[in-house]
Amino acid sequence: MSDIIRFGVSIDEALLENYDRFIADRGYATRSEALRDLIRDALIQQKIEAGSNVRALGSLTLIYDHHARNLLQEMAEIQHDFHQLILSVMHLHVSHDDCMEVIALSGTVSDIVKLSNCLLSLKGIKNGKLFLTVPSSGITNS
Ligand code: NI
Repeated sequence: MSDIIRFGVSIDEALLENYDRFIADRGYATRSEALRDLIRDALIQQKIEAGSNVRALGSLTLIYDHHARNLLQEMAEIQHDFHQLILSVMHLHVSHDDCMEVIALSGTVSDIVKLSNCLLSLKGIKNGKLFLTVPSSGITNS
């Protein structure tokens, strides 16, 4: 771990009040811890937006009706086409009709987004979202 540096921040009073409400709502113990998370999140987003060849980790969550015609077959074929990206798949039967699938992914941003878009756009997928991040070494060693 690198050295901890202390620095002062000049900030508008009203903005600081909003910030303090924000960190209280989120349950942060200190302004510093909240600020570190906000900085990390901004750097991760910048890294992801900077280049499609950036190595990333992702989790894709899908909610779908398993009765939808051809959906399971199409989902399986797409996942086999991108098998090198898939670390793990968790499948949950959440109701009589609905399933939830969480797919853990590792690869370049462009490959992960391509796979995610193929799955999210299938007919029968009711809702879904991709979460993308980069390993911490990707934001501190550059
Ligand atoms: Ni199921």
